[in-house]
Amino acid sequence: MAKKDETKDRLRSRFQKGVDKAVEKYVASIPFDWRLYKQDIAGSLAHAQMLAKQGLISKKDAELIVSGLVAIRDEIEQGKLEFNPELEDIHMTIESRLFEKIGDVAGKLHTARSRNDQVVLDLRLFVKEAISETVSKLRDFQRALLGVAEANKTVIMPGYTHLQQAQPVLFAHHLLAYFEMLQRDVVRFQDCLKRADVLPLGSGALAGVAYPVDRDFVAQKLGFSEISVNSLDAVSDRDFVIEYEAAAAITMMHLSRLAEEMVLWSSAEFEFVELDEAYAASSSIMPQKKNPDVAELARGKTGRVYGNLIGLLTVMKGLPLAYNRDMQEDKEGLFDTVDTLLSTLEVFTGLIKTLKINAARMQQAMSGSYILATDLADYLVRKGLPFRQAHNVVGKLVRYAISKGKSFQELSLDEYRGFSPLFADDVHVITVETSVAARSVIGGTAPEQVVAALLRVRKLVGKRNEK
Ligand code: ARG
Repeated sequence: MAKKDETKDRLRSRFQKGVDKAVEKYVASIPFDWRLYKQDIAGSLAHAQMLAKQGLISKKDAELIVSGLVAIRDEIEQGKLEFNPELEDIHMTIESRLFEKIGDVAGKLHTARSRNDQVVLDLRLFVKEAISETVSKLRDFQRALLGVAEANKTVIMPGYTHLQQAQPVLFAHHLLAYFEMLQRDVVRFQDCLKRADVLPLGSGALAGVAYPVDRDFVAQKLGFSEISVNSLDAVSDRDFVIEYEAAAAITMMHLSRLAEEMVLWSSAEFEFVELDEAYAASSSIMPQKKNPDVAELARGKTGRVYGNLIGLLTVMKGLPLAYNRDMQEDKEGLFDTVDTLLSTLEVFTGLIKTLKINAARMQQAMSGSYILATDLADYLVRKGLPFRQAHNVVGKLVRYAISKGKSFQELSLDEYRGFSPLFADDVHVITVETSVAARSVIGGTAPEQVVAALLRVRKLVGKRNEK
C-alpha cells in the first residue's frame, strides 16, 4: 500500500499549525456522512468522465481516477476502509484514499468542483433514492391495508366521533380512510422528487466554475432531469431535505393515528382486533400481558421525525448565502428520518397483514348502544318531519330508553309512538346493516360504494404482496 496520504495538511498550506484535536472531532462529519459514499463516488465518476470529455484532464488520468474510485467503493463495501475523523468527511476520506492509490493524479479530480456543490449533489442523490424506497414501502403498506379490507368486506364496526359511538361504518371503509391518507403521502413524496431531481454540480463553491464543463452530460450520467440555474442557491438550498422530512412527518402522523387505534382496539375493553404474537410484546412482570409495543413505538417515533424537521428548519433559518458549515447539521436528522420511516412502514405492514379481526366484538359493541339514533331521525324525516324536529324527538327517545335500561330494539311500538305518531312497525327494521346501506353517496360507507372503492384502489396499487 502507498504511504499514508497527507490530504488534511495539503489543505492547510496557509496555516502554520495543525488543527486542535477537540476541534477536529467537533467539526468531523465522517461518523455519519460515510453513508454517502456510494453517492459521492457516483458523482465523482461522472465528474471525472466529464472532465475528460471536455479535455480538462487527459483520458488516461480519467481512467486512473475511475478505476481508483471503483476500487475504493469495493474497499468501503468490504469494510476495509477506515473512517478517520482526521479526514473530516466522506469527500476528503475518498479523496485521500485516491491519493494513496494513484498518487498526484488524484488531485485533478477536484478541478471545477467544490465540496459545497459536491455535498449537496450527494445529498440529492441520497434523497432521490430514499424517496423511491419510501414510495415502494408506502405501496406495500397500502396493499396490506387493502388485503385486510378485502378479506373483511362485510364487517360492520361502530364509527366514532369524539371517541364516542357515532354511526356504524364498514370496517373496510375505516381501513380505506388510511389508504387515502397514504395515497396523499405517496403523491407528496413523488412531488418532492421533482425538487430533489436537480443537478447542483457546476455551481462550484458558490459562483459557478471557471472551466467549460458540460453540466448536461453530468446530469444525464447521474439521472437528473434538470440542472440548477443559480449557483448561490444550488449550494445553499436544502429545501429538498426539508420537504422529505415534512412529507415523512405527515406520514408518521398518519401512522401514529392508526397506531393509536391498534392500541385501543387490541385492549380488553375493545377487543376489535388481536395482534399476531410475532407483533406483540410481553411484560417483564405481568405474565398475562400481550402489549402492542410496535404500535406504541410507531406512535412514539413520530416525535423524533417531527423533531428532525423542526431541527433542520431551525438550522436553515437566518443563514446568509451561500454555503455555511451549519448545513452539515442536515444529515443526521435526514438519515434518522429515513431509517425511522422505512422501518416503521416495514414493521407496521407486517402487523396489519397478520392482524386478526373480531367482527363479533364489533357487532356486540353496537348492540346495546344508541348508534342508530341518526337513522331513527332520518326515518322520521322520510315520514315528513323536518330534521331538527326529528333530532329533538329521537333525543327524548334516547333519554327515555336510557332511563328504562332498554336498547332501541327493545322498545315497543307503543313506546316509540309515545314520542311521535309517525313511528310505525317498520321502525324495527332499522339495523346497522340498513344504516350503512343507506349511506350510498360517493365516498360513503354503503357496501356498494366500498366495493367500488376497493376495486378502484386495487387498480392503483396492483396485486403484489397481496395477503
Ligand atoms: N462535511 C461538509 C458538510 O456536510 C461538506 C462540505 C464542506 N464544505 C466546506 N466548505 N467546508 O456540509
